[in-house]
Amino acid sequence: MKEDRQPPFHHHHRRLAAFTRRSFTKSTAYVVILILLSFALGYLSAASYHPRQHSQSPTISQTTIASATAAVTATELDHYRFRTQCADPVHPKLVRQTILDRVFNGTSPYASFPPPHISPLLRESRIKGWGSNGAVFGNLIRKVKPETIIEVGTFLGASAINMARLTRELGLKTQILCVDDFRGWPGFLDRFRELKMVNGDVMLMYQFMQNVVHVNSTESVLFVPFQTGTTLEKLCEWGVFGDLVEVDAGHDFHSAWIDINRAYKVLRPGGVMFGHDYFTAADYRGVRRAVNLFAKVNGFRVKVDGQHWVIDSA
Ligand SMILES: C[S@@+](CC[C@H](N)C(=O)[O-])C[C@H]1O[C@@H](n2cnc3c(N)ncnc32)[C@H](O)[C@@H]1O
Repeated sequence: MKEDRQPPFHHHHRRLAAFTRRSFTKSTAYVVILILLSFALGYLSAASYHPRQHSQSPTISQTTIASATAAVTATELDHYRFRTQCADPVHPKLVRQTILDRVFNGTSPYASFPPPHISPLLRESRIKGWGSNGAVFGNLIRKVKPETIIEVGTFLGASAINMARLTRELGLKTQILCVDDFRGWPGFLDRFRELKMVNGDVMLMYQFMQNVVHVNSTESVLFVPFQTGTTLEKLCEWGVFGDLVEVDAGHDFHSAWIDINRAYKVLRPGGVMFGHDYFTAADYRGVRRAVNLFAKVNGFRVKVDGQHWVIDSA
């Protein structure tokens, strides 16, 4: 029996050895081909993706789109993920006191304004805005009759002061909250040479306050002098909502995208959100791309009123 079984065993062994040799040779060849291919593909994709390269019109290669899609899937759509829940809304009549308590230790920032060392550096009034008196403000205020307006991006207060006037004319008791770090943007003083800089402080906040004092609107216009991101998060946490929310801070896609998404969290359900520069070319029409993407993701229609975009959540 043993004798009988030996030849087949040897035969099998020889075949196995030959198969292994052949497979080894084959798989070695496959591995070599694969390595060569990945080098070629890696080289090609590296050649078509230059994140630091600047060009006038963005050209996005298929490889870039594919890797971006893979990355989005891998991070489980993190770019679209913003806080989903805010605190219960505080009553509109308590919004002002909430901000005074939370931001200003319970005291009005306008008390004893201007401080003596700042007073000589301010103009009685210095207002400059961009589309800040557009028809959209009156149109929306008449339509929404807001109790609370949140403005994201205020600068010298041109649009806030315009809204204060419009609400007053309609007999509304609207609280306008202005969110701005009052730093402007690097180099903005080139166009505002009359604004004084003190030890690197551009004093935008003081001139804005002076402008509000000048038109006697300190009761209706209050401000939160911090970064838009952290402030909108806090408003959400404190239950401070706006019936009307204007977004007009950073005008590049990413700033606008984040501001719009966070602003939406503090928009009262059924309220209206709007902003300037829907047609600006800056950052490859960054504001428009951000607004359109936001509307698409959330199922809203974008309306246009002059240079402004409007999203009505009703
Ligand atoms: C175009 S101006 C606002 C103009 C104003 N809405 C008007 O019509 O008169 C933009 C403002 O947004 C502010 N800003 C930009 N990015 C900001 C950020 N991340 N946090 C706080 N303020 C910001 C700047 O300081 C600047 O005052």
